[in-house]
Amino acid sequence: MTGEVRLAKLGIGVLGVGEMGKRHAENLRRSVPEARLVAVADVAAERARQVAAELEIEHSFGGLDDLLARKDIQAVVIVTPDKFHAQGIRAAARAGKDILCEKPLATNLADAQAALDAVKEAGVRLQIGFMRRYDPAYLAAKKRVEAGDIGEPVVFKSLGRDKDVPPLAAYQSNLNGMLFYNNTIHDFDLARWLMRDEVAEVQAYTTVAIRPEIAKYNDVVASVVNLKYGHGAIGNVESYVQAIYGYDVRTEVVGSKGSVFVGTVAQTPAVFLSSSGRTQTLADHFLTRFADAYLAEVRDFVQNMLNDRPPQVSGEDGLKALAIAVAAENSHRERRPCEVTLKDAGTPAKAGLEYR
Ligand SMILES: NC(=O)c1ccc[n+]([C@@H]2O[C@H](COP(=O)([O-])OP(=O)(O)OC[C@H]3O[C@@H](n4cnc5c(N)ncnc54)[C@H](O)[C@@H]3O)[C@@H](O)[C@H]2O)c1
Repeated sequence: MTGEVRLAKLGIGVLGVGEMGKRHAENLRRSVPEARLVAVADVAAERARQVAAELEIEHSFGGLDDLLARKDIQAVVIVTPDKFHAQGIRAAARAGKDILCEKPLATNLADAQAALDAVKEAGVRLQIGFMRRYDPAYLAAKKRVEAGDIGEPVVFKSLGRDKDVPPLAAYQSNLNGMLFYNNTIHDFDLARWLMRDEVAEVQAYTTVAIRPEIAKYNDVVASVVNLKYGHGAIGNVESYVQAIYGYDVRTEVVGSKGSVFVGTVAQTPAVFLSSSGRTQTLADHFLTRFADAYLAEVRDFVQNMLNDRPPQVSGEDGLKALAIAVAAENSHRERRPCEVTLKDAGTPAKAGLEYR
C-alpha cells in the first residue's frame, strides 16, 4: 500500500499458522509494537482459532478472502505451504496489500513471474522470507565481504542439514517444492547475496540412498550442487534433510585474501556427531538457530512498510534464487550441467497448485 497517509501502526494478517506462521504471528504480536496483528487465517480454521486465542488476536478466519476484505489490514504475511505462495501473492496484491511471503517465491518460474507481475501492476511491495540475511553471523560475513577483507570472492561453500526424518506424509501431500525449493533455496540466495554475483550454471548430484521410497514423490534425501558464477567464481552447496545429530548450517566465502566462515564447528581436528553424543552444542531446529533473524526480518518489513521504503529482500531476489533451484532440478533430472535462466522452460512435474 504505497503513497497512503502514514500509519502509526501497520495492520497485519498472517495467512497459514502452522509451525512457521505461528512464529511470525508470535513475533508480530509480542515483539513488534509498530504492528497490529489484526487476524490470522488458515484453511484449518480450528488451528487459526486456537492460535488467535493463544496469542490474543482479535480475529481468525478459515481462508485468505476474509483477511483481504479487511480495510484495517494493510499487509499480509504468507506462510502457507510452498505451492500456494504465488497464488496468495497474486490475491493479496490484487487486494492492494503489501506482502511478506515465505520462501520460495513459487515452485516454478511461470508462477513466480505471474506473482511479480501482479505485485508490479498493483503497486504494492513484496518481501521474500530469506531470513538468513538478518542473522547476525551472516550479516557480519556480508560486511567482511563488502569491506574487501577477504579480497575477491573465489569459492562459495554452504551446507544446510535438517535434523529429523521428515514424515512420509510430507512427501505424499506434495504441498511443498522438492529439496531445492524448500531447503537449498536459502543457500542459493546466500550464494548470490554473499558473492555479489549471479550463478550462471549448476550441476546437481542427488541421492535417495537411505530412503528410496521418496523417489516416487520426485524428491531426494540429499544433494550436492556445484555452481559456476558469471564472473568466474565457483561454489558448492550441500543439502541433507535428515542429519539426525542436529540442525546444521554453515557457509564459507573464500577469497583472494582470506576466508569468512559462518557455522557451528570450532577449530578442532575432528568433530564426532551422532544421535547419542556430540562434541559440540548444535541447534536442534531452525526456529532456535534463526530466532533472532526471524524477528529482525519481520521488524524490518514492518518498518519499511510504515516508512514507505522498499523491502530489503525483493521479489526479484526470490525469482533469482528460484531460477537457481529450477536449474538444479533440471540438472538432477537430465544428469548434466544446466544454465540458470529466468525464462520459463515449461512446467516441471511438481508445479504450483491453484489456490483453491
Ligand atoms: N524461512 C524459513 O526458515 C522457513 C522455515 C520453515 C518453513 N518455511 C516456509 O513456511 C511455509 C510454511 O511452512 P510450515 O513449516 O509452517 O508448514 P506447516 O505445514 O506447519 O503449516 C502450513 C499451514 O498452512 C495451512 N494452509 C495450507 N494451505 C493453505 C491455504 N491455501 N490457505 C491458508 N492456509 C493454508 C495449513 O493448514 C498449515 O496450518 C513453507 O512455505 C515453508 O517453506 C520457511
